[in-house]
Amino acid sequence: MKFFVDTANIEEIQELEATGLLDGVTTNPSLIAKTGNDFKETIASICKIVSGPVSAEVTATDSENMIIEGKRLGEIATNVCIKVPLTLDGLKACKSLSSEGFQVNVTLCFSPSQALLAAKAGATFISPFVGRLDDISIDGMGLIDEIMTIYSNYPDTLKTEVLVASVRHPLHVVEAAKLGADVITVPPKVLKMLVSHPLTDKGLASFLEDWEKTGQKIL
Ligand code: G3P
Repeated sequence: MKFFVDTANIEEIQELEATGLLDGVTTNPSLIAKTGNDFKETIASICKIVSGPVSAEVTATDSENMIIEGKRLGEIATNVCIKVPLTLDGLKACKSLSSEGFQVNVTLCFSPSQALLAAKAGATFISPFVGRLDDISIDGMGLIDEIMTIYSNYPDTLKTEVLVASVRHPLHVVEAAKLGADVITVPPKVLKMLVSHPLTDKGLASFLEDWEKTGQKIL
């Protein structure tokens, strides 16, 4: 499973890139607004740090302008992945942009039927929002399961990768991996939570305490 980080914060991306765990980055207008920085400059900086896909979202709502904006974003760097919302106009823009060879991430997916249409429109990635479904007492991971089943029924024609988004905690990551999701985009905080285990911390403290008693040094 590929790991993307869901942030537009350059320092956080730099820190995580150094771990070697990052396969890409996702941003959205809310994450860009949170940084207070210029959108296109931010995307350009992220694309220099990470070689994998960097999702940058259009803000037009009609297909014609989504395509114009998408192409403008695509000029920033070769690894820009144009993000469009799951509306009829978004699907039209997806079809057009993907036919021209751009990577497209169709976002704000909340149903299996939406995911099926995005794949038919040639999306590179479909982004189902699991956390926002859980927030309204609908099983977010159940949606991933349904999409994986649908896509796997048509392996020769539906090539879209399932990118699990709106991730809130480590269990979402584990469940996504169990279901065979292609990609997960994780807030930096959750990525760090994945590493931690109290027994690891306790075990390490006790190893170091015992090592100290030997008076030895490796170097
Ligand atoms: O980037 C899209 C998605 O991951 C947003 O997550 O936490 O705002 O629902 P969230």
